[in-house]
Amino acid sequence: MTDARLTTAAGTPVADNQNSQTAGPNGPILLQDHHLIEKLAHFNRERIPERIVHAVGSGMHGEFVVTHDVTQYTRAAFLSEIGKTTEVFARFSTVAGSQGAPDTARDPRGFSVKFYTEEGNYDLVGNNTPIFFIRDPLKFPDFIHTQKPDPRTKVQEPDNVWDFFGLSPELTHQFTWLFGDRGRPATLRHMDGFGSHTFQWVNGEGKGVWIKYHFKCNQGIQNLHDDELLEVTEGNPEYHLNDMRDALDRGEFPSWTLKVQIMPFEDAPTYKVNPFDLTKVWSQKDYPLHQVGVLTLNKWPDNFFVNTEQVAFNPAHFVPGIGPSPDKMLQGRLFGYGDAHRYRVGINHFQIPVNAPHSAPVNNHLRDGAAAVSTNGAGTKNYEPNSFGGPSETGEALYTGINTDGPAGSYPAEHRYANDDFSQAGDLYRLIDEDSKTRLVNALAGSISGVSRQDIVDRAVAHFAKADAEYGARVAAKVAELRALPASNDPAADPAAVLVP
Ligand code: HEM
Repeated sequence: MTDARLTTAAGTPVADNQNSQTAGPNGPILLQDHHLIEKLAHFNRERIPERIVHAVGSGMHGEFVVTHDVTQYTRAAFLSEIGKTTEVFARFSTVAGSQGAPDTARDPRGFSVKFYTEEGNYDLVGNNTPIFFIRDPLKFPDFIHTQKPDPRTKVQEPDNVWDFFGLSPELTHQFTWLFGDRGRPATLRHMDGFGSHTFQWVNGEGKGVWIKYHFKCNQGIQNLHDDELLEVTEGNPEYHLNDMRDALDRGEFPSWTLKVQIMPFEDAPTYKVNPFDLTKVWSQKDYPLHQVGVLTLNKWPDNFFVNTEQVAFNPAHFVPGIGPSPDKMLQGRLFGYGDAHRYRVGINHFQIPVNAPHSAPVNNHLRDGAAAVSTNGAGTKNYEPNSFGGPSETGEALYTGINTDGPAGSYPAEHRYANDDFSQAGDLYRLIDEDSKTRLVNALAGSISGVSRQDIVDRAVAHFAKADAEYGARVAAKVAELRALPASNDPAADPAAVLVP
């Protein structure tokens, strides 16, 4: 029993929370019942727009501790000393489903980490896959439309998924990953994370290197196979969320070891793949992993909406010593997220505690706008330069410039060797064991066999054949087998077989 008084939003005590005010015991409700009107009106506005992608997610507090010296590569202050600890907020998510969709869907998982560093917030907004479906941001809305419900049927259509796939060969590598075992992690605690893009690190002397981030899961990788899905999750749409929350509440704190691949700037023009093409990995034989530190998640937030729903991760949030690469996808994302946040959470989203810097002061001339809840600059001057002691620029770039190599224009993808869209997909297929190959082929065929047109099937299957002849033949055979089954036995009708069950 609490002794706190129930109040309105203005803090006024509420006399009656059971009975609306009426004109007499059976009369109509009165406009003067401020408590009732406030309650109904606020309820009507409880939802904000869900994220256009990654709407289903789990958020966690945690910390990052540096374990290895990387100061020869970056001057980022939060990486400056072994043992240095930085507070983080992380959010892991599925991509395609809207809120309420099962978080165990076959889908990449978002792997976002906000580091509250003393030089401002650094957001690493990656996935649990080292690569992505496409390599140009111009194709992102089209690609996502194929994963979302069809405009007429309102369900995800295999026709749309596989039509786009067949017409976009660069998807072959990520689809081979996605329909493989790692496309459905057993829990959010049992998967790796990646920055996926190439980024730059710059040291104290201004020398830069290209890097790729790998978060290696210390719990070990575990996946859920299609035939285990319903038995293990019992159809619970929040299975992954519950697992993470319960583990943190039990004091079982999952951790990931952060490693980086490092490529000297000089190597980029001649490396065997374009290092800024997000559909490619760098060989770890060519660029081995260097350890940086350990990420540990240790607390489920007290309030889901205020933290997990309102958190705004932005790949454009760099700190001194870390910057972008010319990866076109990354360049597109540098615009996309801040714009999404202004729409989804509002112009002052960065003042919400989960988004505001926790270890760095904010001094600038952004003022006013809806829901300005910080001091809003109080009485300080709101222009720069000023002669009243206002904050001044440092004159030190966060990162180095990116060389450009020709006139502005729209350029097709740079392929450095024949079969560039398919080779790494073939390598991945040949790398996995026989049981994994069978599950991959079955999962692909289960989804492709739901396509209504043979030409779409043929184009899709041809991509797998270009990756590896045996791979293509097995997918083709399995699709033919499934399409020959009577409709009632068609595994494509099994929710575990489609991309987003
Ligand atoms: C979320 C756009 C590619 C990872 C989002 C959101 C947008 C977006 C608008 C919602 C942001 C919000 O409302 O807070 C794009 C565009 C892309 C792209 C335009 C390509 C040009 C990628 C890639 C990755 C990625 C390549 C991973 C490597 C994420 C993650 C989230 C997200 C993890 C969820 C962040 C959170 O937990 O709040 N994306 N995205 N996206 N995206 Fe992307």
